[in-house]
Amino acid sequence: MRSGPILLLSLCCLSFRHVDDGTGVTRFAQTASVPSIQTDIPSLCTALASDFPLGAAIWPGALTGLHGELLKKHFNSITAENDMKWQHVEPVEGKFEFGPADELVSFAKANHMLVRGHTLVWDQQNPTWLFKDVQGRDMTPTPENKALLLQRLSRHIRAVVSHFGNDVYAWDVVNEPIDPSQPDGFRHSAWYRITGTDYIDTAFRVAHETAPTAKLYINEYATTNPRKRGLLLKLVRELKNRGVPLYGVGHQMHVNLDYPRASAITQTVHMFAAAGMDNQITELDVSVYQNDQQRYSSAPTALLARQGYRYRDLFRCFRKLKGSISAVTFWGLADDHTWLAHYPVDRPNWPLLFDAALQAKPAYWGVVNPRRLPRRK
Ligand code: G3I
Repeated sequence: MRSGPILLLSLCCLSFRHVDDGTGVTRFAQTASVPSIQTDIPSLCTALASDFPLGAAIWPGALTGLHGELLKKHFNSITAENDMKWQHVEPVEGKFEFGPADELVSFAKANHMLVRGHTLVWDQQNPTWLFKDVQGRDMTPTPENKALLLQRLSRHIRAVVSHFGNDVYAWDVVNEPIDPSQPDGFRHSAWYRITGTDYIDTAFRVAHETAPTAKLYINEYATTNPRKRGLLLKLVRELKNRGVPLYGVGHQMHVNLDYPRASAITQTVHMFAAAGMDNQITELDVSVYQNDQQRYSSAPTALLARQGYRYRDLFRCFRKLKGSISAVTFWGLADDHTWLAHYPVDRPNWPLLFDAALQAKPAYWGVVNPRRLPRRK
């Protein structure tokens, strides 16, 4: 690997400590400064330019300094990891706070990047007022509460989608509506308990009325799971039959070194494409762990090499599907900031293409040029 000596040199200059960056996500921050990002390696999004746009989900700190440089060099699409979620943009009813999301959009425009909007309706990261009735009590499933909640939903989506207008080309309109452990297959969130599936139809219809050219997605995790996939496909077909303006399916793709197999991803994408859906990979990362008990204090070299081969296989699969997959987004920029440091338990994880010092990992070479992966032992 030609970058080996550079990588080693940069890591020698650094020691790492755990810090909280104020967003609740543990970072493995360097105590000495990183001199620069690597300028002598290919740009990821240029290498994949004929396949699909390549995105990263980011926190506000990723817009500046070396993180900003890395983002600009390698990605041509960005997503707010949290800053467009309901809790952040409408913490108080009718009072919208778009500051951090606007900064992200300005950065994207200044650097000719696309913006994927995430997310308009979810059962997490909502403000407490949202599910309170007019008396301030927790909503129960009554016709009045259903009408009130759908009205709040419509107002929220109109305000948020019109604020960003054409600056956001695609929206994850409804996030994670399927729960295969339920007999009816739907996530029994407050949304579902109070409105049934009407919240889904309303969200898509209002988003489409507000931004008719935006591409609208249902975003879901574990879409290769046969039961979950079947339930999602059934929902997609029902929505299409009802004339709901759904453009595609977002496959989150939080995966590990072995699961799911590339063949299952191919089969899944083909199934949704056959149902008339566009597909996007929306939250890609590759955990180095296979279960909740494993924990490494530093990244084992052999596992990072395996991860490189795993990324190679995933991108071979995505590229073969490029007619059916219109974008791929990573859930993060580099290993210094990842939700997997807290999920499913607190532990270090190294799921992305760049390490905590923002240097290219084997995972990067797996995507860009697999011939530069370390030899398998
Ligand atoms: O902002 C507060 C901060 O003020 C406070 O000090 C800190 C204390 O813990 O919490 C901070 O909020 C955290 C927030 O991330 C911002 O970093 C929340 O606790 C934390 O729960 C939240 O986690 C986010 C998670 O969604 C929420 O469930 C992750 O960052 C984000 O990566 C994750 O993203 C989701 C996608 O939206 C949907 N698909 C799954 C994916 C991973 O869970």
